[in-house]
Amino acid sequence: MPTPDQDAYPTLQTHPAEHGFGAVVRGVNFAEGPSDKVMDEVLRAWAEHGVLSFPDQDLSLDELEAATLRFGPFGVDPFIAPMPGRPNVLELRREPDEKATNFGAGWHSDWSFQPKPPAATLLHAKVVPPVGGDTLFADCVRAYEALSPVMQETLGRLRAVHSAGRAYGTQGVFARETEKRTMQIIVSAEADKTHSHPLVRTHPVTGRKALFVSPVYTVGIEGMSPAESQAILAFLFAHMTREEFIFRHRWAPHTLLIWDNRRTIHLAEGGYDGHLRVMHRTTVAGETPV
Ligand code: SIN
Repeated sequence: MPTPDQDAYPTLQTHPAEHGFGAVVRGVNFAEGPSDKVMDEVLRAWAEHGVLSFPDQDLSLDELEAATLRFGPFGVDPFIAPMPGRPNVLELRREPDEKATNFGAGWHSDWSFQPKPPAATLLHAKVVPPVGGDTLFADCVRAYEALSPVMQETLGRLRAVHSAGRAYGTQGVFARETEKRTMQIIVSAEADKTHSHPLVRTHPVTGRKALFVSPVYTVGIEGMSPAESQAILAFLFAHMTREEFIFRHRWAPHTLLIWDNRRTIHLAEGGYDGHLRVMHRTTVAGETPV
């Protein structure tokens, strides 16, 4: 008798985490270029689980780019210099002697300040430290669904204001940084611009609703005073990052991870000072959140 997962995914072996948020997926080789049939299963598994981890994917940069394009066209990555000759690949590199806070250390959904934030991010592990360096994901769909109907209805009428300013702006964290950082961050007045999106967005594939705010990039709620915005956002950030909504990804070399920025926020943990960590990252273009 096949398991339910074998029914849904005849080619893949999917091992979902608790609550079905996050899954380890075997049975696909991105270096070879999966068939359309396998990709159809991958895309369905991604829609179901939000974060997919593919172990043992020893990919060149060409193969990582090709894998990315199976999910959609490249997104636009601002404020970080890409790899030489690879405009669509970022190297997230932290040397053993770096003291600056590791990149991505606050909860965020990638580039949510863009008019069309990326649907997906892919991260490929090149060098993994022996301790620390996990990536944590919060399930913003279940967080939304756990709210009372009155709160859901109230939040559903609001628009949140997003900006890259706190991180990449002229007065932002990176502008004020004094410690050495290997990654080349491009601080810019452009980062101080704002863009608003629905505070609750509907996933274009699953139709499920998700909270779409994060401590790094959400700076307010349209039409509310700073104090009102802050009170609501503080409640939401604490709620979204409750233990029961979190999936913790532990890295191994050659793991390829893809996450859905439309239903998750994520955070890169530190704890590996004295060790090298190197990841290659691409994004997939998204749509206007609705
Ligand atoms: C990020 O893209 O936010 C960084 C994730 C990580 O390095 O684990």
